[in-house]
Amino acid sequence: MGRGARIASVALACIGLGHGAVAEGDPQRGAELYLPCAACHMIGEGAIHRIGPHLNGLVGRGIGAVDGFVFSDIFLEAAALGEVWTENALDGFIANPDGYLPGTAMVFRGIRAAQDRADLIAYIVEEGASAEAGEDTGPSPEVAAILAIDGDVAYGQYLSSECTSCHIGEGGEDIPSIRGLTPTVFIAGMTAYRSGERQHQVMNTLAGRLGDEEIAALAAYFLSENN
Ligand code: HEC
Ligand code: HEC
Repeated sequence: MGRGARIASVALACIGLGHGAVAEGDPQRGAELYLPCAACHMIGEGAIHRIGPHLNGLVGRGIGAVDGFVFSDIFLEAAALGEVWTENALDGFIANPDGYLPGTAMVFRGIRAAQDRADLIAYIVEEGASAEAGEDTGPSPEVAAILAIDGDVAYGQYLSSECTSCHIGEGGEDIPSIRGLTPTVFIAGMTAYRSGERQHQVMNTLAGRLGDEEIAALAAYFLSENN
């Protein structure tokens, strides 16, 4: 899709949501619904960017505009248009992230039930309302230790046969592309699956079998192929 067509589809998605406000939500129920988001997004006092940006002060914040996070092109296009997160926009995005902002780097299928979305939005608004974002102190010690390893590309290629049955090329439905991911994001992802902080059955099992050397080698290999 060309640049113009994608911007048009963003605008259309926004117009499509023009009717009706988001239902009244229950923030307490929303806190439970936030758990899958927490694998990638921090919210509340001291929140920092992780795989996704922190979500403090989200409603009223520019789309793709928070400092210090590297957004995908479609988010940057929305930012250039001065789009802002309203509850309606959030509702549309959470319902179907890739339908709302095609090509987004956020790997998430979306939440079908309107009431679930309303509860989740109520939680995000309440939890992130007056919270100060934290100072980004960089990768965790675990991630930093793996980043410091000089990954062996050939070993990574050997190990990757376990990965490429799913992670082919551009990725597919619900399977993110992992080629060319920055080492920090790749390694943070793998360690989050290894510890169970981020949950996906296959990824938890595979990452659980990998040591630091293996993760460093895989990160080096998947980065190298793109270059
Ligand atoms: C697997 C990781 C992952 C999960 C799970 C995830 N997100 Fe995201 N999210 C991201 C990434 C990465 C981005 C940046 C998207 C881009 O640049 O295309 C993002 C962007 C966003 C943004 C835009 C923020 C901004 O400043 O414009 C919102 C809002 C958001 N996510 C909400 C959620 C909510 C709510 C959930 C749970 C229902 C969720 N995300 C689940 C990774 C994730
Ligand atoms: C059975 C299919 C499958 C296999 C095999 C597989 N993955 Fe994944 N991988 C996934 C899915 C699905 C996700 C997204 C899960 C989620 O929503 O958190 C994912 C997520 C990831 C992420 C996080 C990407 C991001 O944008 O945050 C990384 C990194 C990753 N996989 C690396 C690997 C590596 C390395 C291997 C081989 C050791 C591997 N995967 C094997 C299906 C697979």
